[in-house]
Amino acid sequence: FFLVRMPVQYIIGEWEFRDLNIEITPPVLIPRPETEQLVDIVSSEMLKKKYSKILEIGCGSGVISLSLLKAFPWLNIVAIDKSKEACELTQRNAMKNKILTNLKVIQCRIATDNYRYLFKEKFDVIVSNPPYVPSKRLTELQPEIVL
Ligand SMILES: C[S@@+](CC[C@H](N)C(=O)[O-])C[C@H]1O[C@@H](n2cnc3c(N)ncnc32)[C@H](O)[C@@H]1O
Repeated sequence: FFLVRMPVQYIIGEWEFRDLNIEITPPVLIPRPETEQLVDIVSSEMLKKKYSKILEIGCGSGVISLSLLKAFPWLNIVAIDKSKEACELTQRNAMKNKILTNLKVIQCRIATDNYRYLFKEKFDVIVSNPPYVPSKRLTELQPEIVL
C-alpha cells in the first residue's frame, strides 16, 4: 500500500467526518478538511432562516448532505452525482448513520442530463463542492490526491 501511496482512508475503508462515521471507497473522493468548513458555513446560514429544500450537486460520499440532515433533520435534501458509485455510497452512508428519511439521491449529470425535468421543484439553497482541479493539471499532483 505504501509503495502505491494508497490513501489511508481507502485502506481502512472508513473515516470520521464531523459526527458521521462514513464508508470510503475508490473512486469516490475522500472528504477534505475544507469540506468540513463548507458544512460549517452552510450550517451557520441554516440557523438564520427557516430553509427547507436543499439541492446538493456532486454529493460524492454524501458527507455534506448527511451532516446537514444530522444537524437539521427537518430539511429535505436532493443529492445528485453523475457517478453511480458516488450515489450508491451516499445511500450506504445514509443507512450507516441511520439517516433514513428526507434524503433523495439521484444519479444525474448537472447541465447535460434532463435535470430540468427531474427538478421541477424549487430549492431554497444549492450547495456544492465541485471538482476544482483541471484535468490537465492532475499529473502535477501527489498520487494520493489523484486517487
Ligand atoms: C470534489 S467532489 C465532492 C464530493 C463531496 N461532496 C465532498 O465534498 O466530499 C465532486 C463530485 O462532483 C461530481 N460531479 C462532477 N461533475 C458533475 C456533474 N456535471 N454533475 C453531477 N455531479 C458531478 C463528482 O462525481 C464528484 O463526486
